[in-house]
Amino acid sequence: MKCLKINGGRKLKGSIDVHGAKNSILPVLCATVLINGKSVIHNCPTLSDVEVTVNILRYLGANVSREGNTLIVDATSISRSNILEPQMKELRSSIIFLGALASRTGQACLYLPGGCDIGLRPIDLHLKGLKALGYEVFTDGHNVCATRRDVIGKEIVLPFPSVGATENIILASVLAKGTTTIVNAAREPEIEDLADFLNKAGARIYGTSTPTITIEGVNELNGAEHTVIPDRILATTLMSACAITGGRIQLNNVCMPHIMPTLPVFDEMGCDVSYNYSSVKIKAPNRLKRVKSIETMAYPGFPTDCQAPVMSALCVADGTSIIKETIFENRFKHIEQLNLFGADISVNDRIAVVNGVNSLHSANAKCTDLRGGAAVVIAGLSAEGESTITDIQHIDRGYENIEHQLSLLNADVKRIDDEKQQIK
Ligand code: UD1
Repeated sequence: MKCLKINGGRKLKGSIDVHGAKNSILPVLCATVLINGKSVIHNCPTLSDVEVTVNILRYLGANVSREGNTLIVDATSISRSNILEPQMKELRSSIIFLGALASRTGQACLYLPGGCDIGLRPIDLHLKGLKALGYEVFTDGHNVCATRRDVIGKEIVLPFPSVGATENIILASVLAKGTTTIVNAAREPEIEDLADFLNKAGARIYGTSTPTITIEGVNELNGAEHTVIPDRILATTLMSACAITGGRIQLNNVCMPHIMPTLPVFDEMGCDVSYNYSSVKIKAPNRLKRVKSIETMAYPGFPTDCQAPVMSALCVADGTSIIKETIFENRFKHIEQLNLFGADISVNDRIAVVNGVNSLHSANAKCTDLRGGAAVVIAGLSAEGESTITDIQHIDRGYENIEHQLSLLNADVKRIDDEKQQIK
């Protein structure tokens, strides 16, 4: 079993490029199913979630090749309309194939998806959206099938701005007759990125980054070239790592407007943050200040994906910080692990109370999920002595070679193979 060994206590310094956004790449890859000809997608780091998605595309019959960080997908010869259970269970985003595949082949027969265990994560809004468009949808709690009937654009009102449901409805309607309107759509930057890619391929999608998205159906989509947006969650993760170590780093290849929702938190921690459109510098004080209150919200609120990494930094802040998780009901699993480092965090339902301690000590801890795993690594960077972090397959889903990235920033992090390092 692979694990990370971290010798903590070193201040992060230096500069690094932020890689492409996992949460953009996955729906963009699903979208290639709808396209005749070659899609060339740049800025795709090697993440395990991306590789699983590529394997799904290959299973479906697409040709996919990688040249460095560029993926070239030709889905012209797609021949299957089902996805194997193990592939579906490996990531949540596999459900985004539902709309695309049903639209392309006339039918999609999938298993219910897997992904990070951070809550119930139902797909009722995805299914209601597809039904409203005219797809026949069947689910038995294990499988889900969507069959294309007379698909005609509709107004679909989402009771919650679900990212995945918005993506599925876009993909299911982009080749439909007529105009689809999604009211109370998710406004996350990754939705805009998906629409940018599709529009380059010939789609007519308007209003992304606003609560109302309009999709005018087109007859066909043709190959397009696209560069995926920088990963805003990675950027905030690295800023949190810098903050906890009292470091000073520069992040290049960021899209600053996407990071804005997290900046007030770093300001409140006492970090000095300066930026232009595509790079950000952060200088952390020797002792962070507490943050009075953070509440996760849909974009442009504070992202739920940044909750765990930022919480980790706040473990050593001066005073008590309150963090409320409003998006997922089970996204505090990392707390037990952070407390192994000597953090003082208690939980009451969806509220975490982080009492800042003077310092963390080294620990053996495990990654509970993708972002929770990043939080545990961040704690290890601060803790004096050697920490061992196991279950790092969760981290590999969304951070490319994290030990390399952190080493470039002066951290001492190594990946080792160690059969004995299994933490219960
Ligand atoms: C996406 C992101 C994930 C991020 C989340 C919220 C990807 C691959 N993943 O996940 O990293 O944390 O957005 O920003 O892009 N809900 C329902 N019914 C549905 C769909 C969602 O009740 O049909 C609920 C969920 O249980 C959750 C909330 O809506 O409580 C948000 O979920 P959603 O925005 O759909 O997140 P994902 O697309 O799964």
